[in-house]
Amino acid sequence: MIRRSSRLDGVNYEIKGPVYERALALEKEGHSIIRLHIGNPAPFGFDTPEPIRKAIIENLSSAQGYSESKGIIEAREAIREYYLEKGIPSVHFENIFVGNGVSDLILMSLQALLEPGDEVLIPTPDYPLWTSAVRLYGGQPVHYRCDEEAGWFPDPADIRRQITARTKAIVVINPNNPTGAVYGRELLEEIVQIAREHRLVIFSDEIYDKILYDGVTHIPAAALAPDVVCVTMSGLTKNYRAAGFRAGWLVVSGAVKEAASYLEGLSLLSNMRVCSNVIAQQAIKTALEGYQCIDDLVLPAGRLRRQRELAVSMIRETPGLSCVTPKGAFYLFARMDAERFDFRNDTEFVISLLTEEKVLVVQGTGFNYPTPDHFRVVFLPAEDELTEGLNRIRSFLRRHTRAHAPVLTSQKGRLFTGKQRTRLF
Ligand SMILES: Cc1ncc(COP(=O)(O)O)c(C=O)c1O
Repeated sequence: MIRRSSRLDGVNYEIKGPVYERALALEKEGHSIIRLHIGNPAPFGFDTPEPIRKAIIENLSSAQGYSESKGIIEAREAIREYYLEKGIPSVHFENIFVGNGVSDLILMSLQALLEPGDEVLIPTPDYPLWTSAVRLYGGQPVHYRCDEEAGWFPDPADIRRQITARTKAIVVINPNNPTGAVYGRELLEEIVQIAREHRLVIFSDEIYDKILYDGVTHIPAAALAPDVVCVTMSGLTKNYRAAGFRAGWLVVSGAVKEAASYLEGLSLLSNMRVCSNVIAQQAIKTALEGYQCIDDLVLPAGRLRRQRELAVSMIRETPGLSCVTPKGAFYLFARMDAERFDFRNDTEFVISLLTEEKVLVVQGTGFNYPTPDHFRVVFLPAEDELTEGLNRIRSFLRRHTRAHAPVLTSQKGRLFTGKQRTRLF
């Protein structure tokens, strides 16, 4: 028997987990599945802007060799300019690393930092790669709660309570996946203050920093943290709808002198990877400096914004479901009224939904949410498909409503406590 490494124990990625595998099997059998499970814009008609595609085609022949491990000069210069404009002080060219998507850089940045048992504060719900990557490199994920009743914002006092002598870093996902929350200045300042007091590294995953609704603005955590070691990440996947090109970047800023050894570790790991996909690197400058057509998509008449309205209203009109309006990204994290339905938990819900209605969503516990009564909806599909998918969820839930369903808890404006909800499922 060849066994997988025990290092993978506790490492999960439910967005492409067993339920997703089941969906692929159903597709092979000839079923058509409505995919509301992954943030992959292009298959839903959100094309990568033409100048970016052109930059790749036109520069193809100069992408034949390896590049410098940290990335090509033009891309790193453009990234530097971008963050200087966004208010991050002293972004040094040498502290910018380009990778094969943010996923690659999440793994690399934690691999370069963690000692066995180091604790990393991560939001719950989270983008699950963060939790899994911490475990993979021997660290201990410690979740701080984002509060649905507070618009999915975390409570700084709760973050403080989780800090121990082993806490090494804090992860901020802003705009957030899966909740769509966009953190304001005051909250970010409080988080930065915690990091400052406890000498934590801030990992700020800002991959949706241009996908913002209702006029909210995005502030990079690093802009408020000139004296804290801050690792900011973004890329082409979401803002530029170029998920398949695999281009992301990481910038270490703030107290970089304190981070000299860490930066050496990052350089070593980046050298060991030789370099990231050069073809995609060549599009970064064009993307960052060109016309930002994402801005049109999030305006009130823009496609993303209209689909957000549609998804939010259809979820809220479905008896037993509720959600907070997302202010960024293209996900909503819907809550199910636990008492109302006949399935035992969120996983049973997503499996039955897939089997009976051929709609694929991801269960809330897949985002390390502690109570099994949420699921994530991706609102990228065009209005017709999104409506069909959400209608199927509604009829599924109608069929699975208990005979004597209680009055909606959300209508009563009351939420179950975590304990109560766990017991109910
Ligand atoms: C918060 C967050 N970080 C990172 C990623 C990974 O993106 P990439 O395609 O750049 O690897 C995603 C993808 O969904 C994400 O939502």
